[in-house]
Amino acid sequence: MRIYIEKNPEDASQKAAKLVIGLLKSKPDAVLGLATGGTPVRLYRELINANARGEISFKSVETFNLDEYVGLSPRDKNSYRRFMDENLFNLIDIDKSKTHVLDGTASDIAAACADFEKSIALAGGIDLQILGLGSDGHIGFNEPGSSFDSRTRLEYLTEKTIVDNARFFDGDKSKVPTSAITMGIATIMEAGKIALLAFGGKKSDAVKAMVEGDVDESVPASVLRKHPDVSIFLDTAAASKLSPDIYREILSAPRD
Ligand code: F6R
Repeated sequence: MRIYIEKNPEDASQKAAKLVIGLLKSKPDAVLGLATGGTPVRLYRELINANARGEISFKSVETFNLDEYVGLSPRDKNSYRRFMDENLFNLIDIDKSKTHVLDGTASDIAAACADFEKSIALAGGIDLQILGLGSDGHIGFNEPGSSFDSRTRLEYLTEKTIVDNARFFDGDKSKVPTSAITMGIATIMEAGKIALLAFGGKKSDAVKAMVEGDVDESVPASVLRKHPDVSIFLDTAAASKLSPDIYREILSAPRD
């Protein structure tokens, strides 16, 4: 696990963008795993700018999103399909038919999950998975207690996640869907590379548990310590609860 601590989310997002841009330069037909939410927006802006400058192209890129709320149609303003269209896909030269976001209104969710897994395999697997971090330690919508062997499936959201995400639903937690379809932990762990971003003091407990706690299903993100190629991009607030020894070790590690 390589950990980068930058002074603010902008610098950390720029650093993460370099990883994505480097991959797309060396593999223009890369398969990307993508996240939604507040965290990756700055990273996506960097990618949009790099695309506009002609530095990278998404023409041959295929993408798979981590999750989608159950019950929201792709056109709903809070759906993750809509989020991706508005924050990335509509602003880059990607072929939309190569962007996969689970459908929260699928009549047969189990079949939709199985198809999603098949499509990932058909694409040759995910080269780089982008992740945010839930304040309860979730990745995707794999909430605490999710099996490390889990694959794409229906998952119920914790009260903490519902409260956290109410900000996207007019601050009204009763409007937040109570379940989602999510890539499983085993699915995420099969990505060749993983980049997790976490910003702000609200993430600091989850960051500490992920980096320093036990590798345990009660903290889904802790599984990342078992992956051979993970980069974690933090701002100082998200890193603020790391123990001084670990913090020093991170800051003194060779930087690239
Ligand atoms: C979103 C996702 C979630 C978020 C996490 C953090 O696709 O998979 O795991 O990354 O809930 O959300 P934000 O970035 O809004 O703090």
